[in-house]
Amino acid sequence: MVVRKLLGLVGVVLLCWMSPSCGMPDPRQREDLIKQELIREIGGGVVLNEQEKLLDAKLEQLKLQDMSLPEFPPAMHFFRAKPLIEQSPVYSLLKKMPKGAALHVHDFAMVGVEWLVKNVTYRENCYVCFTDDRSVRFVFSAEQPKPQSHCSTWTLLRPLREKLNSTELDNSFIRNLTLFTEDPDTAYPNQDIVWKRFEQAFFVAYGLVTYAPIFKDYLYEGLRQFYMDNIMYMEVRALLPPTYELDGRRNSKDWSMRACREVVKRFKTQYPDFLGARIIFTVHRGINETEAIKTVEEALTLQRNFPDIMAGFDFVGREDSGRPLWYFRKALELPEEQGTPLPFFFHAGETNSEGTDVDQNIMDALLFNTSRIGHGFAMTRHPVVKELARKMKVPVEVCPISNQVLKLVSDLRNHPAAALMEEGQPMVISSDDPALFGATGLSHDFYQAFMGFGGMRSNLATLKELVINSLRYSSLSSTEKEKAIADLLVKWDKFVLQTLL
Ligand SMILES: *[C@@H]1O[C@H](CO)[C@@H](O)[C@H](O)[C@H]1NC(C)=O
Ligand SMILES: *[C@@H]1O[C@H](CO)[C@@H](O)[C@H](O)[C@H]1NC(C)=O
Ligand SMILES: *[C@@H]1O[C@H](CO)[C@@H](O)[C@H](O)[C@H]1NC(C)=O
Ligand SMILES: *[C@@H]1O[C@H](CO)[C@@H](O)[C@H](O)[C@H]1NC(C)=O
Ligand SMILES: *[C@@H]1O[C@H](CO)[C@@H](O)[C@H](O)[C@H]1NC(C)=O
Ligand SMILES: [Zn+2]
Repeated sequence: MVVRKLLGLVGVVLLCWMSPSCGMPDPRQREDLIKQELIREIGGGVVLNEQEKLLDAKLEQLKLQDMSLPEFPPAMHFFRAKPLIEQSPVYSLLKKMPKGAALHVHDFAMVGVEWLVKNVTYRENCYVCFTDDRSVRFVFSAEQPKPQSHCSTWTLLRPLREKLNSTELDNSFIRNLTLFTEDPDTAYPNQDIVWKRFEQAFFVAYGLVTYAPIFKDYLYEGLRQFYMDNIMYMEVRALLPPTYELDGRRNSKDWSMRACREVVKRFKTQYPDFLGARIIFTVHRGINETEAIKTVEEALTLQRNFPDIMAGFDFVGREDSGRPLWYFRKALELPEEQGTPLPFFFHAGETNSEGTDVDQNIMDALLFNTSRIGHGFAMTRHPVVKELARKMKVPVEVCPISNQVLKLVSDLRNHPAAALMEEGQPMVISSDDPALFGATGLSHDFYQAFMGFGGMRSNLATLKELVINSLRYSSLSSTEKEKAIADLLVKWDKFVLQTLL
């Protein structure tokens, strides 16, 4: 060691003696170090063709324009940044870009809430009640529904709309269904408050989206909105709660799975270049061990009965207030014990609380052989986990807008995925609950990733790797993947040519 240091010193002295730029860093060494960094980042290994290089140059110019805006959108809260983003030429380009798959999206937060209010609540037999804490609930029923505690009497919406100002009523419903507000920093001073509103909005949507006919229409509309944002495949995390009919009858999980299968099939007939969608069955992480065992058994049955449309299993809900994965280990060992595969897609590390039981989730997710890590916001604080994830080819599903709105980070330039992107950690970009945040498909999140934590380094090659990743890390079989990626690349080349014109 000492000898090497000495030799190094001798080298420097010799160089110094021979070179006129003595004492200055070697520019060739600098070039070389820059290259070494570039090659490691996402897209660093992607070779762009001539057309792609032209588009990349154009993209860089557009990027510089946005970087010089007086207010840089990724540094602002998304609710205030959204109108700025939507004026950006980078955003229009990202909207047109084929984005492959959306791999982290939740069932009842896929469709813009305008549709729920303007289409769904205008259908026959829709009742509303107003809760004590100034929220609303909906239900469809053939007759007067049974009273709900802490809520006014159920009122049919149609006659109510004639009595009240229906524009104002609809706007209040829209506000109840999203987190959007003009002044998010005042409305949501901390994570507890924003999560409470998040869960509240979920209950508002619940009565609408679990009505059996709406359940199907909602999924169809969700696929349509993502498809319009140039997404060709989806994996939807779904709670699969019992849906209900107009007479109050409840349907089973099998009904929901068959409904999903039927809707996806119908959608593919209408849009033949759409590859499909699969379900990741989810359950709230507040449940106890007994319930978890029952739920995993249910998941195994679904996996056996619907292998074409079922992708696997996950827990949902706020990690910081739910039970850690390790608590559920008995349930999670069942598939291995029974010799029945059940792929896991765990949310893990969606936290700022370093060193807690919850923070440990990200390691436990890998120990349980998770196929992907939802969020993995805590990944950079776990170097061993990071290495292991890379070795196991387990990507993080990064959802920038969700992390900002739910107050893990405010300026997206400081998102931990910035470091992961520079290191080429396996990664996909997704949108989590776009409807609640007022985002559409994946484009807003791609903008934040590309401009915010991608910085000036991320380029067309980065984007290309990210969209290919979305299929590479999907639950599709290897032959399906090959075909999907080939289809994507055809769309990609078309996009490059069209955008250059
Ligand atoms: C309903 O409310 C909106 C917004 O407050 C207002 O512009 C409109 O004039 C009202 N319509 C009626 C019929 O009162
Ligand atoms: C939710 O709707 C109710 C009833 O229309 C309204 O009073 C309340 O202000 C709405 N909540 C929000 C957050 O806008
Ligand atoms: C509501 O959506 C359904 C499809 O989900 C569509 O057939 C219908 O035309 C829509 N109605 C309105 C009023 O937009
Ligand atoms: C688990 O939760 C269920 C439903 O809330 C409850 O009925 C049961 O008693 C709980 N079991 C234990 C062991 O706490
Ligand atoms: C995870 O996969 C490894 C290697 O395939 C296997 O040895 C291990 O038992 C699996 N662990 C679980 C919890 O499934
Ligand atoms: Zn999620």
